[in-house]
Amino acid sequence: MQRTTGWWTTGILCLAMAACGVLTASCDQGGTDEQPAGGKAAAGKKVVVGFSQIGAESAWRTANTESIKTEAAKRGIDLRFADAQQKQENQIKALRSFIAQGVDVIAFSPVVETGWEPVLREIKKANIPVVLSDRAVDVTDDSLYVTFIGSDFVEEGRRAANWLVKASGGKALIAELQGTPGSAPAIDRKKGFEEVIAAHPDMKIIKSQTGDFTRAKGKEVMESFLKSPEGKQITALFAHNDDMALGAIQAMEEAGVKPGKDMLIVSIDAVRGAFEAMVAGKLNCTVECNPLIGPQLFDAVEALMAGKSVAKRVVINESVYEQAQAAEVIKTRKY
Ligand code: AHR
Repeated sequence: MQRTTGWWTTGILCLAMAACGVLTASCDQGGTDEQPAGGKAAAGKKVVVGFSQIGAESAWRTANTESIKTEAAKRGIDLRFADAQQKQENQIKALRSFIAQGVDVIAFSPVVETGWEPVLREIKKANIPVVLSDRAVDVTDDSLYVTFIGSDFVEEGRRAANWLVKASGGKALIAELQGTPGSAPAIDRKKGFEEVIAAHPDMKIIKSQTGDFTRAKGKEVMESFLKSPEGKQITALFAHNDDMALGAIQAMEEAGVKPGKDMLIVSIDAVRGAFEAMVAGKLNCTVECNPLIGPQLFDAVEALMAGKSVAKRVVINESVYEQAQAAEVIKTRKY
């Protein structure tokens, strides 16, 4: 039997028991015949974690990568980090290579929601626990991962829409820059936003296209929106992330449109660039999506290594920032 079998089984059992409300103290203490309480780290061996990152499409992603690498180094974890350059096939290859390397835990941020089941089954067969970081997967069997640590993207979409309802008085013709097609944040943010504006008959999305979460694409798509027959009617922009909004702001300025004035702009992430744009009066609101989740990620890894149970879902606490707060908040912004 492989070394990991005992605590994988214990973890799953703990989750099942927790779900039934019968989690016992002994389950939480950790320690099986194969994995002593205190786990591998206590035994003086380095914990090995394979992490497949999506890429470096946005300032958010760069901060997320930094948080993960810094936290791993701080805790003495042997992190095998792979950058998938935006491609699911590269992520699947990386996950298979982590199996071959016999890592202790596999973590990844899935570029899209679907298509993971076969590789997740291979990982489960190898008795390696999976931690989903930042984005969810769409699978029929949720025992294929141990925990999902990330934001509530639907709520972020709702928050953006609620801000726009208030700022526009419930009247807006909206252009939407969507994130990567098929990704959890693109699907969920759209859903949350549309759910709120559905109650406001004078709010309508009149243009919507993907900008793939990048500044360059955000600019390119906004240029085409502005040149389209509906271009002059647009009164507001909802961008699924700050990078696309920042690209769109450039496109507006080049087209003689005053961002943040002629057009209300709300986006998601709350990265430093968004605060700078708010201080300059060019962006109106940013909804926070916190990328600094390295500590929670490795808390879960260490709990698993110690044979402890982990919550199936860890939601990150986040805020909404408006222009008026930007000058003050930017002073302490970490990313
Ligand atoms: O999954 C989180 C999203 O991915 C962030 O909003 C975006 O900036 C990133 O690329």
